[in-house]
Amino acid sequence: MTDKADAFTEKYGPWALVAGASVGLGAAFASELAQKGVNVALIARKPGPLGELSADLQRRYNVSVKTIPLDLAAPDMLKTIAAETDDLEIGLLVYNTAYMLIGPFLEHSLDKQLRSIDVNCRGPLTLAHHFGQKMVERKRGGIILMSSLSGLQGAPWLASYGATKAFNIVLAEGLWYELKDEGVDVLVCCAGAIATPNYIASQPVALGGMAPKPLSTEKVAREAVAALGKKHMVVPGRAYRFSSMLLDKFMSRKRRIKIMADSTEKMYGDRLVTIN
Ligand SMILES: NC(=O)c1ccc[n+]([C@@H]2O[C@H](COP(=O)([O-])OP(=O)(O)OC[C@H]3O[C@@H](n4cnc5c(N)ncnc54)[C@H](OP(=O)(O)O)[C@@H]3O)[C@@H](O)[C@H]2O)c1
Repeated sequence: MTDKADAFTEKYGPWALVAGASVGLGAAFASELAQKGVNVALIARKPGPLGELSADLQRRYNVSVKTIPLDLAAPDMLKTIAAETDDLEIGLLVYNTAYMLIGPFLEHSLDKQLRSIDVNCRGPLTLAHHFGQKMVERKRGGIILMSSLSGLQGAPWLASYGATKAFNIVLAEGLWYELKDEGVDVLVCCAGAIATPNYIASQPVALGGMAPKPLSTEKVAREAVAALGKKHMVVPGRAYRFSSMLLDKFMSRKRRIKIMADSTEKMYGDRLVTIN
């Protein structure tokens, strides 16, 4: 292992917990961390893909892997996670997963809308509170919350998803400041489109023209992990950094909401009312 990987493990090891970790970006986070020699505890609902990833990471990187199959929306999820991890020194928390409803806000049931609060807000806050306390006691550690560019202004047709992503941005920014002098680094990752299985399954129409292409999961995980401890927010991919900088500097909030609406309408067209 290199000196760089040793320093990373010393600061953020020996275990990382990745919430939403069996496939897609979560799996890429787990691989990125295992490659650095960090043992990983992986959460997802389906045990099958979790087991496959676990075997693959152990074989490729010779790290220890623990799988915790559960639903992060479950009211007792912290009780289960605490029982499964109390004997592990979790030095890094990555809250990756999110529940996204596409389409008109009022077309989805209230139960589904509230599920996005459970998975996307209650989940990261609960785990940041539980593991953050232990990290502060040890005076070292890191927390990465996954957010999205859709959390930087209103996101029509993804309204509750965008709002939960805004929650993660503001929560992470506050914690970044509160915990930086306690030895704990906090980062929020605001991504544009990523080629995750969920994204691909939603069958978006390519925006074309100057619009940046979806990033690979590996690139997003690599850039986020590399930014931890260096900044409070990262936007992976040069093209997404450039376009979000332009929107931020030169467009009113109202105009940005319209751009979000137009691009989501273009990506999903008539299907906006039938998805989910
Ligand atoms: N994809 C994009 O274009 C994009 C863009 C910007 C930001 N993001 C952000 O990137 C993150 C990951 O995106 P993604 O969801 O598309 O990809 P992902 O990394 O593929 O997430 C799905 C993973 O989470 C698990 N999971 C889903 N719901 C869960 C639950 N309730 N409890 C426990 N585990 C659960 C899934 O396994 P099981 O199904 O077995 O539970 C799977 O392992 C999200 O925070 C999202 O907001 C994505």
